[in-house]
Amino acid sequence: MSTSEQEHPLTHLGAEQLRALAAEHLMRARSRSSALTDAVDDDDLVRQHSPLMSPLVWDLAHVGNQEELWLVRDVGRRDPVRSDIDELYDAFKHGRASRPALPLLGPAEARAYVREVRDKVLDVLDKTTLEGTALVQDAFAFGMVVQHEQQHDETMLATHQLRAGAPVLYAEEPPPAFAPLPAKEVLVPAGEFTMGTSTEPWALDNERPAHPAYTGAFFVDTAPVTYGEYLRFVEAGGYAEERWWSPAGWHHVKDVGLEAPRFLTRDGGRWMRRRFGVVEPVRDDEPVTHVCFHEAEAYASWAGKRLPTETEWEKAARWDPATGRSRRYPWGDEDPGPEHANLGQRHLRAATVGAYPAGASPLGVHQLIGDVWEWTSSDFAPYPGFTVFPYPEYSAVFFGSDYKVLRGGSFGTDAVACRGTFRNWDFPVRRQIFSGFRCARDASPEELG
Ligand SMILES: [Fe+2]
Repeated sequence: MSTSEQEHPLTHLGAEQLRALAAEHLMRARSRSSALTDAVDDDDLVRQHSPLMSPLVWDLAHVGNQEELWLVRDVGRRDPVRSDIDELYDAFKHGRASRPALPLLGPAEARAYVREVRDKVLDVLDKTTLEGTALVQDAFAFGMVVQHEQQHDETMLATHQLRAGAPVLYAEEPPPAFAPLPAKEVLVPAGEFTMGTSTEPWALDNERPAHPAYTGAFFVDTAPVTYGEYLRFVEAGGYAEERWWSPAGWHHVKDVGLEAPRFLTRDGGRWMRRRFGVVEPVRDDEPVTHVCFHEAEAYASWAGKRLPTETEWEKAARWDPATGRSRRYPWGDEDPGPEHANLGQRHLRAATVGAYPAGASPLGVHQLIGDVWEWTSSDFAPYPGFTVFPYPEYSAVFFGSDYKVLRGGSFGTDAVACRGTFRNWDFPVRRQIFSGFRCARDASPEELG
């Protein structure tokens, strides 16, 4: 097999083009942050909508503070804009639940602060040579800050989903329609493939380096598990039967009293779902969303299957049997377009199964990118050859068995923060995120012929 990866086109850009690209990404992220924070009034901005989340105004100023730390002070070597607030917006110093009690910047102050930081950053971008250190090479630090802001935008979108009251967010159009898939599952043959990346310029430390990884032969579902499928498990009494759950999962179900995916209620014989303030009937052919790792694992075992490992997920998504090479995305090496995947908050929900035939992987696996983050069975762990870059708080402090890896991004993930190699992680009990899953199973010797 070949571990060679395609060189990323961004590495061939001249400094001016690279600057323009970074500036465009910075602007796009900021217009999303503004839209998410301008959609509600000041009371809503400072309120905590769930103990799981920060007030929206914290996210906004935190985004600006990280941008200041990394781009104004570190890359630009400029004087601080507001060093007095660093501690307030340090995510490691104050847990989400305690953030509303802090003397945070108010909405007008926070908006003025992020604007001032951004003005300085655009000046830094203009005057920095984008080479010499790993931090500025290929505008990495700018790409990292853009991804950080987009990740917080997704978090803010999840806060909007938790917010009570009338809807304030709208999507211009619904996602594309259901289209039946030719197969329910496909076989991924045994063997090595290249996992991770050493060439993706804006990839984060945990995605690096590219390395050979092996899987046995396995079947993987061609689509994420749908509400229709999942609710059969619920209606069959799955939440009341210990045998489908791991000991930790069963303990959690009993402890919290889980009965169905989050945001669902029953109205007579019908399942209803609250989605960004709108209560509507559940769509059977849409990927189940807002389930925790334990629920995903229990469904899989009820269905006679299991969750894919992270390695299996990435192989199904990137490995091209014709060339032996790993692609950047399931459909190829080009950046995601609207025909490939449901990303970037274009729609306020996952698309129905089969909606993105142009986004399928060479093996015929659909909707790996976008729609819902997919739980895998893997703990968040470093790849062989991992090195911390640029700071341990990005990933290294999270490695271990506390977190499970999610892959592929959701409808709320921007394309810049989503790649075939991108890794997300969260606690196995979390379900306020846009999380779903697909199933896998081992291939039996008879099936392999
Ligand atoms: Fe952050």
